[in-house]
Amino acid sequence: MSRLQTHFVCQSCGYESPRWLGRCHACGEYGTLVEEVVAHKEDAQSRPPPGPPRVLPLSSIERSGIERMQSGNGTDNSLGDEFDRVVGGGLVPGSVLLLGGEPGIGKSTLLLQLLAALASRDIPTLYVSGEESPDQVGLRAARLGCATDKLFVAGETGLDSVQAAFQACSPRVAVIDSIQTISNPDLASAAGTIGQIRESTAAFVRLAKETGTAILLVGHVTKDGMLAGPKAVEHMVDCVLTFEGDPHHAFRILRAAKNRFGGTHEAGIFEMHSDGLAPVVNPSQLFLENSGSLGSGVSGICVTACMEGTRPLLAEVQALVTSSYFGTPRRVTTGVDYNRCCVILAVLEKRLGLHLGAQDIHVNVVGGLRLTEPAADLAVAMSCASSFRDQPLSEGTVCFGEVGLAGEIRGVPHASRRAEEAARLGFSRCILPRSSEKIRHGDMECLSVKTLQEAIQLGLSEGI
Ligand code: TYD
Ligand code: MG
Repeated sequence: MSRLQTHFVCQSCGYESPRWLGRCHACGEYGTLVEEVVAHKEDAQSRPPPGPPRVLPLSSIERSGIERMQSGNGTDNSLGDEFDRVVGGGLVPGSVLLLGGEPGIGKSTLLLQLLAALASRDIPTLYVSGEESPDQVGLRAARLGCATDKLFVAGETGLDSVQAAFQACSPRVAVIDSIQTISNPDLASAAGTIGQIRESTAAFVRLAKETGTAILLVGHVTKDGMLAGPKAVEHMVDCVLTFEGDPHHAFRILRAAKNRFGGTHEAGIFEMHSDGLAPVVNPSQLFLENSGSLGSGVSGICVTACMEGTRPLLAEVQALVTSSYFGTPRRVTTGVDYNRCCVILAVLEKRLGLHLGAQDIHVNVVGGLRLTEPAADLAVAMSCASSFRDQPLSEGTVCFGEVGLAGEIRGVPHASRRAEEAARLGFSRCILPRSSEKIRHGDMECLSVKTLQEAIQLGLSEGI
């Protein structure tokens, strides 16, 4: 069989060249030429005339047609319904999903468990492993306790042998681990190059649409956290998922960055055990467990309620404020944004007169969690003020709210749900923005504040 004819196309200006060039002759950009298969255009005479255009009224299209495939749904499977929730209620037949994440974070483990859970519900599944041999996958499956008859494994990397594997077992859900290892032997470039990744992704998108198989592609993440391969791959798939977590901690968070079949606001939380991933049903407890934060009696500790998707999650912010021995004081943050923290410190200095200019300040979120919401501002401010004054927060206090530059506390979304979660975990006081005044939760005292000054007066045992 003759090889496919390929050429190289500049990704920024479209210039075509029969061989690879380091620099595009037309636009002068470096490293933009990517190998592509030459599409043979039929000449105008031999092409059949186009049929009548297919235009339908939207109302005539059936809407309830799709039946999603769920891994959870009350059965005893290992992932609970965390995965289903993130993708919008289950996998849609014929959809293509891309899962990205750092090496070793647990992508292969997650997807193998997912396939096993689906297979145990009689859905035929296929795991294409280009990175590990079928034996290694078998060992892992044995360790996870998830070998089933409906889960097939193929150790292939050539695009056509993978397609043959699809034909051999007609799966309804398939995993390609990873897209970087799959190559079309007709292209001269090596596996993992942009041209190959695009070519194989396009082939899998076609395959998914033709056969109705839901295909999950594993994608590598580059050094700076981007999904490897061009952005074009993210545009080609229906759903982009990211799996993240601190390698030093056991918890992992699955999020959707793009989703054509559901929202992107949900997050699935898992914990890595020696026998695989387990869903975390009660995430707040995971991050508060060891700290005794209901009343630790230690200064510089403040608990906040943040949202992970639609679920509230309690997190503990710690600050240590110490005199600086150098001209430029140090500011170190882990788990909160450095610049955001500097803004909050400036507000404390200017509006409350706390002289933090000669202090080294370290802020840390317990458990390796990252707080990106403005709602965590108040907890950062409170923990810094508490450590600076060396006064612990009153026992059982939780705080949330956005800090404005004028020292005001602004409202945040889902205030009621956050307060409810804190009440459920036994907190007795909640300091929250004035706009969320009407919240009541059992015995919890809800103190609504308008300014940071008021919040600190109420929060610290002896006031400012
Ligand atoms: P893996 O799924 O191979 O990561 P990825 O595919 O994202 O590169 O999982 C990697 C880590 O997970 C590995 O370092 C060991 C750990 N692990 C466990 O702690 N428990 C387990 O049951 C399994 C299978 C893996
Ligand atoms: Mg892997």
